[in-house]
Amino acid sequence: MPVIFKVFRFDPSIDSQPRYEMYEVPAEKETTVLDGLIYIKEKSSKNLSYRRSCREGVCGSCSMRINKITRLACKTHIFDVLDDNFGQIEHLDHLQVITDLVVDLEHFLNDNKNIRICINTNLTADKIELIRKT
Ligand code: FES
Repeated sequence: MPVIFKVFRFDPSIDSQPRYEMYEVPAEKETTVLDGLIYIKEKSSKNLSYRRSCREGVCGSCSMRINKITRLACKTHIFDVLDDNFGQIEHLDHLQVITDLVVDLEHFLNDNKNIRICINTNLTADKIELIRKT
């Protein structure tokens, strides 16, 4: 059964304004939103940009808003989230858009580096606090 994706599009190198484009996507019970985006990129819009990596719900790179809720596209089955076979697919709303569904993760990744230092060590709370202050 085909569904309709309304996808946020914006390429700052050619677009003066963001826009949405509509795509028809064939879907079955197990089809994920990421499967739908891959279909669009292969069949309709080769310049559609999004991130994906593991396709297992581990890396988080396919995070996006699907019908206004932040979800992992690779773990979200289309028919679990669509309203009347319609889905609005957008970038994460708290990060700057680079192009289409790709957002700037630099700030997030830098914060993540700082967190990992505390989790992966056997430092005492006093030493962690000392590191934070320096
Ligand atoms: S591709 Fe890794 S969580 Fe979706």
